[in-house]
Amino acid sequence: SQFFEDKKKLSDKKILITTGPTYEKIDPVRFIGNFSSGKMGFAIAEELAENGANVVLVSGPTALKTKHPNVNRIDVVTAEEMYQASIDNYPNCNGGIMTAAVADFTPLNPEDRKVKRGKENYSIELTPTKDIAASLGKIKAKNQFLVGFALETNDEEFNAKLKLEKKNLDFIVLNSLNDSGAGFQHDTNKISIIDNEGSAKKFELKPKTEVAKDIVEELIQFYEK
Ligand code: CTP
Ligand code: CA
Repeated sequence: SQFFEDKKKLSDKKILITTGPTYEKIDPVRFIGNFSSGKMGFAIAEELAENGANVVLVSGPTALKTKHPNVNRIDVVTAEEMYQASIDNYPNCNGGIMTAAVADFTPLNPEDRKVKRGKENYSIELTPTKDIAASLGKIKAKNQFLVGFALETNDEEFNAKLKLEKKNLDFIVLNSLNDSGAGFQHDTNKISIIDNEGSAKKFELKPKTEVAKDIVEELIQFYEK
């Protein structure tokens, strides 16, 4: 088995993954969340682990499970908790893959008591959360990589490239929202991978487990370059 261990291409790598949604508290019983299932991140975690990598999986609330011994899971709820766990772990990793659908805003003053009905108007003041990918991009060392995801509804490639630059990513995975069967709450996904030289690779609609293989393959090629 030593022979096969050595054949695994990522056996000397430790990789941070963020996944799932975040929940931002409004009051003791309510939150602002999103429809992210976490499936893409879990699929990438398992695929990396299969290739010998050690995975730190920082996961927002999801019902998903992973049994792979190489996957160490850290459960978080809020964008702030996800930020802390990521910032704490990234320096000890060879790189990170940011698949989480992190809330961009959080309630400024969550209520201590349940908000009652009956108001004529009700609005919640929101404040921006920290950009985890951009924060890791700022502390990224020369020998570390950083991969992001992008979800766009318009000018997809242009916007994805802006994110890649702004967050100091090595490549960005663009999710196609315009195809039925792709993205949130689906078992399939259709992606393009755009690297920091601007070239885009387009992939077919396929199961997220297969998409994970394409992404991990891209990472292996990144290391072989
Ligand atoms: N991301 C992050 N922390 C945040 C917001 C986003 O780490 N607070 C990461 C996501 O995990 C993803 C990438 O940044 O890898 C792009 O996320 P996306 O929501 O598409 O972009 P934003 O930068 O949040 O911009 P916007 O939502 O306004 O398009
Ligand atoms: Ca966002």
